[in-house]
Amino acid sequence: MAKQKKRKLSKADRADIHALYQDAVQDPENELDTFDRFFKRYRKRKPRSLKEDFCGTALFATAWVKRGKKRWAVGVDLDGPTLNWGREHNVEAAGPNVAQRIQLVEANVLDVQEPPVDLVCALNYSYCVFKTREALIRYFKVAKQSLNKDGIFICDIYGGTEATIEHTDPKRKYKGFSYEWQQAAYDPITHDTLCHINFYFSDGSSMKPAFTYAWRLWTVPEIRECLAEAGFAHSDVWWDDGDEDSWYQLKEKAENQPGWLAYIIAYDD
Ligand SMILES: C[S@@+](CC[C@H](N)C(=O)[O-])C[C@H]1O[C@@H](n2cnc3c(N)ncnc32)[C@H](O)[C@@H]1O
Repeated sequence: MAKQKKRKLSKADRADIHALYQDAVQDPENELDTFDRFFKRYRKRKPRSLKEDFCGTALFATAWVKRGKKRWAVGVDLDGPTLNWGREHNVEAAGPNVAQRIQLVEANVLDVQEPPVDLVCALNYSYCVFKTREALIRYFKVAKQSLNKDGIFICDIYGGTEATIEHTDPKRKYKGFSYEWQQAAYDPITHDTLCHINFYFSDGSSMKPAFTYAWRLWTVPEIRECLAEAGFAHSDVWWDDGDEDSWYQLKEKAENQPGWLAYIIAYDD
């Protein structure tokens, strides 16, 4: 019998999807600088505890804990294999001193409100999985109940004229691969949007799609109204004007742009 020739594995076959995601999408050190600065501005102290909702591989939670001996974090995600990857490659890789201060919980974010923390965050637009006001308000109520008295909630949001069309951003090059953000569908009535992350490799192979998100594209006023209905006394919009030299600006009005990013911070007196 003729020997079957083994197919050579492509770069896509050999790549680690979570490592690619972290390299292309996340920038935890930069985001930590930003959050530390926000927290100081609002609460005049350093934060200690974090709940990273939708934590995925818990890269951010790990970076948080690494920043201070008294810091601790809880990461919540529905996806067991992703949490396991993060436990091995991020949490345990950081050493026992850090790992013992990070708790990963495999659960729906709607079901986890203990222990109370200084900061709850929902990053990379993950709360957009909640497609009704009822579900979003329920999530914001859980986030609020998870906070210490002077705790704050932070989520990010994107929008602009290019966010409401089928559109693919130019590919971005990273070491060993290229990353692409693709908005495959957008419905102007429901604001349902279907987005993909695609990865491409130099041997012509690809992961297309590597990740898919079926979201509702929420608007800033909707988010603020839902935060208020969930019981937060205040919400602020910190606008990223895209200029590398300037920091986020606290704004109540902004000019429309093809694409914009902002953080929304909710808090009580
Ligand atoms: C866009 S990724 C965000 C990963 C990471 N937090 C980041 O900032 O890049 C969304 C994550 O949310 C998780 N997820 C989706 N719905 C969830 C829910 N209801 N409760 C907990 N996790 C959820 C998914 O398993 C996935 O890991």
